[in-house]
Amino acid sequence: MTDRARILVTRKLPQTVEDRLQKQFRPEFNRSDEIYPISRIIKAAAGFDALLVTATEKCDAQMISALPDSIKIIATYSVGYDHIDIEAARKAGIAVTNTPDVLTDATADLAILLMLGAARGAYWGERMVREKTWAAWSPTNPLGLDVTGKRLGILGMGRIGQAVAHRARAFNMQIHYHNRSRLDAEKQQQAVFHSQLEQMLPLCDFLSINCASTAQTRNIINAETLAMLPKNAVIINTARGDIIDDEALISALSSHQIAAAGLDVFNNEPDIDPRYRELENVFLLPHLGSATPDTRNAMGMRAIDNLESFFNATTPGDLVT
Ligand code: DGY
Repeated sequence: MTDRARILVTRKLPQTVEDRLQKQFRPEFNRSDEIYPISRIIKAAAGFDALLVTATEKCDAQMISALPDSIKIIATYSVGYDHIDIEAARKAGIAVTNTPDVLTDATADLAILLMLGAARGAYWGERMVREKTWAAWSPTNPLGLDVTGKRLGILGMGRIGQAVAHRARAFNMQIHYHNRSRLDAEKQQQAVFHSQLEQMLPLCDFLSINCASTAQTRNIINAETLAMLPKNAVIINTARGDIIDDEALISALSSHQIAAAGLDVFNNEPDIDPRYRELENVFLLPHLGSATPDTRNAMGMRAIDNLESFFNATTPGDLVT
């Protein structure tokens, strides 16, 4: 059935990805890349076999129950699948796949950029040069924070967390991590496992958030957990915005209870809490974790591999249902 399956593609994808889809399936593309309202996707899905969505399409239980019976699989062009109600899909008999592995390095690279940028003031330093407020080199002002040799806590030591740890070792950082389970010795290396987040937080000069957004992790970084960090801690988030309680983080940054944050992901993207834009001690990026041509192509190929397996009646490698 591979060459006949009809795929509704909800966003514009890289050309090489669309070319392969065209070759193997009967796709319908989104030429304008506008974000379709969910009601439009549901209507447009009539007669299609599969949806190829991204994290901008919220496939909740209501949406899934309204999909036509012809839809057998939702392939998401993302590693995260918190925008899809997996239980509802399972109940509806719809397979769901994601795109792990291929964006691990790009996302870990960006976490390091955020860590350095937030600690060393890349945002305010850049602005000083552009806005001509740089008067002269000064021994005392402005100053950032050291990274080398500091303690890095990683919340979520999956593929991306491990890749962040690997990079951080080059900075002689001491790695701590909190995860559902302890890694085996080969993956863990010298990192210290904490079964309780509360045990790890007081040891984090830097905290990198690399866990999935789930019912257990939503708002896990809140006023209570932020208060457990040492003064001058720096938080980095390349996972999902809803892991952080914005009210609590903005208050901790405003009062300098923590030193800085580097954020690539936010609640309610792109309409983020506007107070972040006013803060001097936060380095902001617009969800760029996987944003390189090679990575975006690889994500597309991975999504297509999953569709290909599914329509060839074999189990897709990245089945999450
Ligand atoms: C992912 O793949 O989950 C990225 O965050 C893009 O949504």
